[in-house]
Amino acid sequence: MPDDTVRPIRIAMIATGRIAGNALAPAIERAAGAELWSVLSRDAGRARDFAERHRAASPEPAYTDLDALLADPDLDAVLIASADGLHAGQCIAAADAGKHVFCEKPMATTAADAERMTAACRRAGVRLGIAYHMRWHRGHRDLAVAAHAGRFGVLRHMRVQWSMRVPDDSNWRAHPEVGRWWGLAAVGTHCLDQVRWYMLPSCGEITRLTPLVTRNAFRGPHDETALLALEFESGATAEICTSVLFDAPKRMEVYGSDGHALFDDTLGRFGTGRIVTHEGEHAFEAADPYTGEVEDFAAAVREGRDPEVNGEEGARNVALLEEAVA
Ligand SMILES: NC(=O)c1ccc[n+]([C@@H]2O[C@H](COP(=O)([O-])OP(=O)(O)OC[C@H]3O[C@@H](n4cnc5c(N)ncnc54)[C@H](OP(=O)(O)O)[C@@H]3O)[C@@H](O)[C@H]2O)c1
Repeated sequence: MPDDTVRPIRIAMIATGRIAGNALAPAIERAAGAELWSVLSRDAGRARDFAERHRAASPEPAYTDLDALLADPDLDAVLIASADGLHAGQCIAAADAGKHVFCEKPMATTAADAERMTAACRRAGVRLGIAYHMRWHRGHRDLAVAAHAGRFGVLRHMRVQWSMRVPDDSNWRAHPEVGRWWGLAAVGTHCLDQVRWYMLPSCGEITRLTPLVTRNAFRGPHDETALLALEFESGATAEICTSVLFDAPKRMEVYGSDGHALFDDTLGRFGTGRIVTHEGEHAFEAADPYTGEVEDFAAAVREGRDPEVNGEEGARNVALLEEAVA
């Protein structure tokens, strides 16, 4: 039960784009122990609209200047929901100002930046969490606990496929200014996080990564379809397929020596889909995963512990993306 007497963690939203408006601000509103305090946008009107629409609580909630937003002594934390290439500078500025950071995935566009962010937050004594919301899908969580407890026997293999069909290459992810990867940054990093979450505890680190990346449709600098083959210390394996060229049912499969789990259309924003294991249908409650991740971050700040995915784990994910597509 949330304790109503504790002041909520006051969070500033950095950027007013799609995920900030559609998922993150509503999640902050629903989350126990958190409140939207202020907003940063390149455009003053957009910052004001966003602050009003999502009921930001600060008496002065709208900013276009990061340093001015961070100078607010009543602000506790920032949620960085800007384009990938902007995360590092914004995170380090927030840490240097003594604010906790919850950062969208991928946390950076280079492994070196990811390490600088992690070091800046550790140095400043602030919490750094990376927003892999799929860890808060109730069904995924149930079966991660089951996998860690050995319900599938020895884990041998995972397969994850998440794709979408984009109409053109106008998105910033297709270009190098503030993007580094396309499908891999949009969804592949989530696939990698799922595989690492399920397999690392019993299979050890990823020891080998073999990528196959195509850029044939738009002929730009970034990945369109990407296939990653992974091997773990234990000898277990995994495959990831991401693409921006076709729509398909999203799919995750977990195989162990004594059982398996198949996830149909569970990957995505809504905490829904269907899961069948070797024991039959796995029923779970459909719940907003973004609310779960915000509640975990706020609790981590209050309790002085790392959030579910800390900076080191986010940085390892970025290093693997970098290894896949240098
Ligand atoms: N966990 C998830 O489920 C999920 C889903 C989607 C995205 N994400 C992550 O969230 C972040 C934002 O993604 P999004 O899909 O919301 O993107 P988006 O709609 O394009 O929003 C990005 C925002 O960043 C700000 N920005 C500042 N400089 C920019 C520039 N040069 N180019 C583009 N945007 C710039 C803009 O806000 P202002 O105009 O207000 O400054 C823009 O609205 C990314 O890191 C992405 O990987 C996570």
